[in-house]
Amino acid sequence: MANNKSVILKIKRQLTPEAKPSWEEFEIAYKPNMNVTSALMEIAARPITRDGKQTTPVTYDSNCLEEICGSCAMLINGRARMACSTLLDQLDQPIKLEPLSKFPIIRDLAVDRSVLFENLKKVKAWVPVDGTYDLGPGPRMTMEEQEKAYIHKVLKVTQYHLGESARILALPRTTLWRKMRKYGLSRS
Ligand code: FES
Repeated sequence: MANNKSVILKIKRQLTPEAKPSWEEFEIAYKPNMNVTSALMEIAARPITRDGKQTTPVTYDSNCLEEICGSCAMLINGRARMACSTLLDQLDQPIKLEPLSKFPIIRDLAVDRSVLFENLKKVKAWVPVDGTYDLGPGPRMTMEEQEKAYIHKVLKVTQYHLGESARILALPRTTLWRKMRKYGLSRS
């Protein structure tokens, strides 16, 4: 820590992919449990360098803010880490932030990771999970099939107690009995 009340960050800036990179230093007020993302948010709220020069907010990526998506990865004191889960308290100062070195720069700490995603697509490197994509329409059921399945379920729950099943289904017992015969539903 610069002192108990402030944190110094040295950030590598590059406004365009072709521009020459340069370093800017920022000093922000220390708050307990701050992570690197919250420090970058503080800088965005007041983008003034340590020597009083007005500058632009630092560009970086983030998404989940809970160390899952990986979008906030950057070099923090020379090591690739997630900005959202790296606490300032764990870092030596000045804290150096640089973009990941293996990807083309977009701006500041944001890099173009599309090569990574293209390669993942080539090898289909994911596990399909129900609900994450359109599975198409479900199987069609006729009204009769739906009714049969529903009555069967109720009969199973009541262990084929006719009176209780009729009450749940809001049917007269005789109607339930007829439907059971129609659908071939019996205890055996
Ligand atoms: S924002 Fe998703 S891992 Fe940091």
